[in-house]
Amino acid sequence: MDYENIYIEEENQLATIVINRPKKLNALNRRTIEELHVAFKELDEDSETKVIIITGSGDKAFVAGADISEFADFSVKEGRQLAAAGQRQLFDFVENLSTPVIAAINGFALGGGLELAMACHFRVASSNARMGLPEVSLGVIPGYGGTQRLPQLVGKGRAMEMIMTAGMIDSDKAFGYGLVNHVVSSEELLPFCKKIASRISNNSSVAIKHAIKAVNAGFKYDADGYSVEIDAFGTCFGTDDFKEGTTAFLEKRKADFPGS
Ligand code: COA
Repeated sequence: MDYENIYIEEENQLATIVINRPKKLNALNRRTIEELHVAFKELDEDSETKVIIITGSGDKAFVAGADISEFADFSVKEGRQLAAAGQRQLFDFVENLSTPVIAAINGFALGGGLELAMACHFRVASSNARMGLPEVSLGVIPGYGGTQRLPQLVGKGRAMEMIMTAGMIDSDKAFGYGLVNHVVSSEELLPFCKKIASRISNNSSVAIKHAIKAVNAGFKYDADGYSVEIDAFGTCFGTDDFKEGTTAFLEKRKADFPGS
């Protein structure tokens, strides 16, 4: 595929994908999503590529969101298809990729841009980055996994506030929230990510592939955490520790747990 909206730089088993629509603040139109799908797929299939970094071109934006001009007149059916196709082609695809993907957030990461960064395996931000999910200010909700991945990363209350206010947070706040792992200067962003990538590439890529799968399994949307909790809660009632703990409480003494 001839890329129009992205380019790829490769060095020492590391590939950097650059989203390259700076005049539109790297907004994700349909073509860009398709190109990213092909790029991620091909790099994942290439055994020489050990780590992928994704960033935006220019010094202003990682990605300022889905391209609003493309969906402003969509019907309910088209809106649903837009979200479903995007999640399948790019966001879920990246999250479940075998090759580690680092988001280097170099400016605005808004809407689909933050959703793309959140689909990556982890994130590093430059100090000028600003992040948010402004969709409700447009009368829509995040559709590329934002309502699921943001609470996973920052907690439900913070996610609710960010989504409801549609506001932006700066890098320091994102770091405090656990949304990004590191904050560095703009100049240091790519060298810093490459240093982490080089450490990753010293390790077993087969083991890393399995680790990604295992970590992701804990966050699958079809697993019902509440049922798991109910089962585990009930199981506790059959343990000696539970008998000892409750008896000790009722007898007003310190528990001495048998550990079974
Ligand atoms: N979709 C389509 N075009 C976008 C875009 C988006 N998500 N974000 C920015 N652009 C375009 C602008 O329309 C403008 O194009 P133009 O020069 O042809 O008019 C260009 O990118 C530059 O953006 P501009 O708004 O002029 O830059 P700014 O510095 O004044 O503001 C932002 C920066 C990020 C605050 C502002 O662009 C913005 O709010 N973007 C939309 C963010 C959003 O709601 N994303 C979620 C989408 S669901």
